[in-house]
Amino acid sequence: CGIVGYVGRQPAAPILIEGLTRLEYRGYDSAGLAVLGSSGATVVRRVGRVRELEAALPKRLAGTVGIGHTRWATHGPATEANAHPHSSEDGRISVVHNGIIDNAGALRARLGAEGVTFSSDTDTEVLAHLVARSGAGALEDRVVDALEQVVGTYAVAVLDADQPDRVVVARNGSPLIIGVGDREMFVASDVSALVRHTSSVVHLDDGELAVVTAKDYRTFTRDSHDTGRVPTEIEVSADDVEIGAHGHFMAKEIAEQPETVARMLRGRLDTRFDTARLDGLNLSPRELRAFRRVKILGCGSAYYVGELGALMIEELARIPAHAEAASEFRYRNPIIEPDTLYVAVSQSGETADTAFAVREIKRKGGQVVGLVNVVGSTIARECEGGIYLHAGPEIAVASTKALTHMGVGFALLALLLGRVRDLSVADGQRIIAGLERLPADIEAVLADEERIAGLATELSSADSLFFIGRVRGYPVAREGAQKFKEISYRHAEAYQTSELKHGPLALIEESRPTVAVIPDDELTDRNLAAAEQVLARGGRVVAISHPGVDLGPLDDRRVDVPRNEVELDPILLMIPMQLLAYHAAVALGLDIDKPRNLAKSVTVE
Ligand code: G6P
Repeated sequence: CGIVGYVGRQPAAPILIEGLTRLEYRGYDSAGLAVLGSSGATVVRRVGRVRELEAALPKRLAGTVGIGHTRWATHGPATEANAHPHSSEDGRISVVHNGIIDNAGALRARLGAEGVTFSSDTDTEVLAHLVARSGAGALEDRVVDALEQVVGTYAVAVLDADQPDRVVVARNGSPLIIGVGDREMFVASDVSALVRHTSSVVHLDDGELAVVTAKDYRTFTRDSHDTGRVPTEIEVSADDVEIGAHGHFMAKEIAEQPETVARMLRGRLDTRFDTARLDGLNLSPRELRAFRRVKILGCGSAYYVGELGALMIEELARIPAHAEAASEFRYRNPIIEPDTLYVAVSQSGETADTAFAVREIKRKGGQVVGLVNVVGSTIARECEGGIYLHAGPEIAVASTKALTHMGVGFALLALLLGRVRDLSVADGQRIIAGLERLPADIEAVLADEERIAGLATELSSADSLFFIGRVRGYPVAREGAQKFKEISYRHAEAYQTSELKHGPLALIEESRPTVAVIPDDELTDRNLAAAEQVLARGGRVVAISHPGVDLGPLDDRRVDVPRNEVELDPILLMIPMQLLAYHAAVALGLDIDKPRNLAKSVTVE
């Protein structure tokens, strides 16, 4: 979900709507806002997109203080009654909330017994009632009082019609920032909602609150100690979050990869010692050498790229490495070892499952570094060090450039871990040269977009597809299937090519095509033989391959990516997968940037 807030001199509603539109990628099943005016709070909520909320706003809504929310339903279906803001019975208090209140059931029962009538199924509504019933003091004190009774995770913003000069915000487990303007202040879940207005930003920590007025803000803890947070300058510009000439953010983000990857590599390749320069890790060569294992944790696509990263680390550094879904890891009482390097990988840096895994590792004394895109995000701040991905803001729900950057980040980490061990100078130089070629190689894949679009259109007509690959190609197939299903709503299943004959071959028929990753490597012949078995059973195959590989009967449906170094090839093999998914969804006329039921950053468990 996304939160925005405004206190200043301008009418709040247009600023809130603009901010909500920017945050829509975080959740988009319903939206709402509350604006304070002379006659109290005006609350408007709608099921659907922010544009529907905008259309429903009354003409005259001049108030200069307000809060807004875009929702990704957790408690209760996406209905108008469940959309935020939620209000107290007298309508004086309005609340927007991200996260989950774990003891909402008990609080509802207690408040119900005290005579409160609830108007929604949400956990959030209890907050509005608790604030309303907490005496007559300053709003910030009443919010503290309410939060004392709450167990759970939250980012909240609260308005009181009787104290119309302020918004009170609090953070515990869900992100929240304050944007500092000139006699106006902003509140948001992330910087994309603020970049049009200010580059001066205050990040709140868990357990912190702030009272925000037009002229000032004050940060403090729940036990009323001022924390005196000062603003930092952010580098994101308004252009970074504009769609520009592209039809979709996903198209923009795919297209900009040559440029963003070149930017990510700048200053990180050390050609003197033929290694990677990753100062942000805060690990000395001696510490790096002491690790005997690497464990990578992420969710969704980040997990799949983590699998790719584990292979790179094993190949280049010869350290056992393994990736696991962060969402599973923390629930199986994981064994945390002192000589394991834990790596949390996340675009947003806010995925709750990944953040919790980080905490579990730290609680048990493990060392965890982050591979994170969003600067200043929760995971980035909680890790002891890390590698920022520098992909710039990613708005489309289906991740593309951030994943490519994760691949590059793992390659850099593998190179560094390798070079403090047995990776030779020559191999170090070879990998550095390969990394330097990546931007041009990505460019070459993108130049073949029209052809890939044709194949994607063909694939889009199938209800069900297989994506297959082996070893380095398998995570590529998993991510390919993930991307395809996320935005085309077609059933897409990834399999190890080697496992086809052990089951799924039974499903092969003409109407269920297969996308096969067949790189030029030590397994090419075996991959080809498996793909031919698919053909022999009447299946259709699109091959993602390298120039010069003799694909025989598969030749008419091939996509070639430039051959780089064998360890880095998977990064490039993922690029056609992005284009296949994108163009299949275009052919089907679907909402590419905001696929149904999904949210870009899942800040709840
Ligand atoms: C959500 C998104 C996925 C994403 C995953 C991890 O489930 O829908 O597309 O891969 O979160 O996100 P992160 O921000 O941690 O990389």
